[in-house]
Amino acid sequence: MDYFKTAPNFMWGVATAANQVEGGWDEDGKGMSIADCMRYRPKIDTNDYQAVNQMDSHEIELALADHSTKGWAKRHGVDFYHRYREDIKLLAATGINTYRFSISWARIFPNGDDTEPNQAGLDFYLAIVKELAKYHITPVVTLSHYEMPLNLVLKYDSWYDRRVIDYFERYAKTVIDYLHQYVQYWIPINEIDSIIRHPFSSAGLVADRFPEDNFKTVTYQAMHHQFIAAAKVVAYCHQNYPKMQVGSMITRTMVYPYNSDPDNVLAATQTMRDVYAFSDIQVRGRYPAFLLEKLTADGIKIKFGSNDKKLLAENTADFVAFSYYSSICTASDTTGLPVTKANRTIGVYNQYLPESEWGWQIDPVGLRLSLIDLYDRYQKPLFIVENGLGAVDELGPDLRVHDTYRISYLRQHIRQMLIAIANDGVELMGYCIWGTTDMISASSNQMSKRYGLIFVDLDDNGDGTYNRYLKDSYYWYQQLLSYGTQIP
Ligand code: BG6
Repeated sequence: MDYFKTAPNFMWGVATAANQVEGGWDEDGKGMSIADCMRYRPKIDTNDYQAVNQMDSHEIELALADHSTKGWAKRHGVDFYHRYREDIKLLAATGINTYRFSISWARIFPNGDDTEPNQAGLDFYLAIVKELAKYHITPVVTLSHYEMPLNLVLKYDSWYDRRVIDYFERYAKTVIDYLHQYVQYWIPINEIDSIIRHPFSSAGLVADRFPEDNFKTVTYQAMHHQFIAAAKVVAYCHQNYPKMQVGSMITRTMVYPYNSDPDNVLAATQTMRDVYAFSDIQVRGRYPAFLLEKLTADGIKIKFGSNDKKLLAENTADFVAFSYYSSICTASDTTGLPVTKANRTIGVYNQYLPESEWGWQIDPVGLRLSLIDLYDRYQKPLFIVENGLGAVDELGPDLRVHDTYRISYLRQHIRQMLIAIANDGVELMGYCIWGTTDMISASSNQMSKRYGLIFVDLDDNGDGTYNRYLKDSYYWYQQLLSYGTQIP
């Protein structure tokens, strides 16, 4: 598969999230978001997601009382808020035709429940899409990527309160109307399954605000409200802008059985079903029976509004987007088996695979398997909206980063993707590398966990010039896109 041909409209791109790149956390009317409460914590195990994102009411109080950016990595990001022109110019020069980015809800509705939007916020995103249009780059816009106005957490307990659906709907409609001439592709909620794995950083749920034995129910009820909110976005786009397409988006961590023991195979299948439940709801328009049964067995009962089932059934996703970084194994009894972690999922270590510096196992074939699996399940266009390698990069004396490891990761994954298109009959809309520039890590709040094609001179403490330097992977992607027929 050294030679390849993708459809002329194949969406080759890069992707970022507002809270990880923008900074400007309190500028031009933006409200405080949940991401602004995330601190960088040195000297802790960055794969101990519980410790890294230790969010409770006390932590939120501390965040509210401190107005500095020092130590609060997502408040400064990589200053995309002021440097977006420079960054877009650099990314355009790679030859990409797609940029996936997210909008900060709190930049548009600072408190979430405001009646009027913040004009400066809307204009910022209009300026971005206009800038992209200059370079013929198609935007793919995520409406909620791990951030929401903090006020919604404090006043309504976030997505647990059904009123938050209305606030999200108002926000979504405002943004869609404002950008409709420029944006055709929308993703309402990033990794909609992530609310179960990290309820605060994904969806603003603070455990100590609820009785301990109730938090699971709270989380699933909030999840349900997210599904309703996303379906409302689909309904609005389809009714008002028929050309728009709205995607479901899940975290597609590949899960293998630890070995061929049927009990372990069953465990892997069950784990994957738990993830697929999320795209099933958005693509098929109904909850899978097994999920409802499982929740009932756990004593969890989701409250449905009278119109919810109809809304879900009538407003299904147009495409299935997913992130893919890694794979894990599982077993029916994992006691004593070696542990691995990937994207806030704990699994059993796979002896056949190498791992990244953060212990995420590198598995390009897992991407091909994911594509086959998702396409066979839904027969809907798929979209890889995130794929990349978090690594420590060093800026050399030649002011370049020689990130051969990242090129190798990307090359292998892209190769498997192209095989899936050519040999497995998978319908794929596009592929986005995670990271134009480096950005703050979602899980660990580190700057040193870098994904970008462009190096940003900034360290974990927020010190640095913010200057941009092109990495070897930048030139490699540029070469790949300019050849169009051969993988360099
Ligand atoms: C994805 C998220 O799950 O993983 C991104 O959508 C995140 O926001 C990416 O950055 C990589 O994870 P991390 O924790 O290494 O930044």
